[in-house]
Amino acid sequence: MERKREQWKSQFGFLMAAVGSAIGLGNIWRFSYMAYEHGGGAFLIPYVIALLTAGIPLLILECGLGPERIGSAPLAYYKISKKWEWLGWWAVVFVMFGIELYYTVIIAWCLNFFKYSFYLGWGDDPNAFFFKEFLSLSDGPSSIGGIRTPIFISLVIVWLINWVISYRGVRRGIELANKIFMPLLLVLTAVMVFWSLTLPGAFVGIKAYLKPDFAKLSEPKVWIDAYSQIFFTLSLGFGIMIAYASYLPAKTNITRNAVLTGFINSGYSLFAGFAVFSVLGFMATSQGVPISEVVAKSIGLAFVAYPKAVSLMPGGNLFGAIFFLCLVVAGISSSISIIEAFAAAVVDKFGWKRKSVINVVCVLGFLGSIIFTTQAGLFWLDIADHFLTHYGLVVVGILECIIVAWLFKLDVLRTHINKISTIRLGLWWTVLIKYLVPLVLGVILIGDLIEEFRTPYEGYSWTSIIVIGVDWVLLTLVAAFWLSMRPWQTEEHKTAGRGEEHL
Ligand code: PHE
Repeated sequence: MERKREQWKSQFGFLMAAVGSAIGLGNIWRFSYMAYEHGGGAFLIPYVIALLTAGIPLLILECGLGPERIGSAPLAYYKISKKWEWLGWWAVVFVMFGIELYYTVIIAWCLNFFKYSFYLGWGDDPNAFFFKEFLSLSDGPSSIGGIRTPIFISLVIVWLINWVISYRGVRRGIELANKIFMPLLLVLTAVMVFWSLTLPGAFVGIKAYLKPDFAKLSEPKVWIDAYSQIFFTLSLGFGIMIAYASYLPAKTNITRNAVLTGFINSGYSLFAGFAVFSVLGFMATSQGVPISEVVAKSIGLAFVAYPKAVSLMPGGNLFGAIFFLCLVVAGISSSISIIEAFAAAVVDKFGWKRKSVINVVCVLGFLGSIIFTTQAGLFWLDIADHFLTHYGLVVVGILECIIVAWLFKLDVLRTHINKISTIRLGLWWTVLIKYLVPLVLGVILIGDLIEEFRTPYEGYSWTSIIVIGVDWVLLTLVAAFWLSMRPWQTEEHKTAGRGEEHL
């Protein structure tokens, strides 16, 4: 049966969708903390180098591969080499049935906190409120306890939004939503940044954020973190950009879109960091303590430090609401991209109706997320996240480069991209993809493994680590092999890549 592949209405629509996937929770709380910890302004050096030498080249590869092989990750890899279809499945399975499941729960928390902002619902002690009352955290990963009703209710809402957007399809759903969400996010963030800069003590925060400490640049960890942050923040390696780009028309300015996505995403991180640190500076000043005492990372930053600051601020309710709304909007636009990467792969292979696939995927996704709404949710989230983003992501990234650059004539892709794009790719691109990116990822992997065996992650028991973290990675791998062994039910895999037509 001949199926027509849906296409973006405009290149701008694609750009907004790609930016929507890239800008997520990680940009707001992960980047700013990392910059602060790793040498302030000096961190921008490894960060920009990582963006230019690995982030953008790989983004170009993924944005080129989708439209050139005309398919989502498993299909694109299949068309390169039949033996590697499983890798495409692995990428989309572990992002959908791993990362997505807890990512949506964090968005649900943000939705709860959006509501609490209006009446400062966290009371006088945001720390106790978050851990004891809101999460009602149990004493370890194995005591699951009960489901937290407020989180569960928000989770239902988050999945309903995900479902409505994805169900409406690429143009009327994803493209339209991102065309609304991204400008909205920018405006809200700008309001937050300029507002926070007027707070007393803001400057103290900005100084802590950007004051360069060049000595840090000699620490390998700083470089490793810069590269990992770039991979995570650009949603690379999960087959997301491949799926999104597969809906591009044959003639598209690939390199320009990829470069713009990379710069807009990093620019946004840098910009949002001003709001994060002005607020922390304000809090430190108003409490008369040094800034290092109020800085917290990731979850602690958003759900403990920020609420504290909001309570101290005149008009804080509105400020808090804007902050949590930003997180919700940034989060949803990333979460729909994950659903799409998986759903597109299923549709490509099995030819089932897109709408039915979306229904099933959203129901399964919702059911799978429930475990993270329990009293042990935070432990599970922490362990699953550590293993999936460290090992899954890095291994897929290395294999992706190997398949495309070593088992495939990378120059077929380069020539094709150059034919249709304005920024031309030279030999440097081939060298980066073939040698540098896999090498850097290999170093990250070895560093992580050494650390892992030295001390079990965050002091969790080996049993919890193996049952939750390691098994999660392995189960997704089994599912991937199984899916890749099913017979093709469409004709998609028989068409050639566009680059080969040029030869
Ligand atoms: N890029 C997103 C962020 O920075 C995270 C993400 C990872 C989104 C994987 C989609 C897939 O938060």
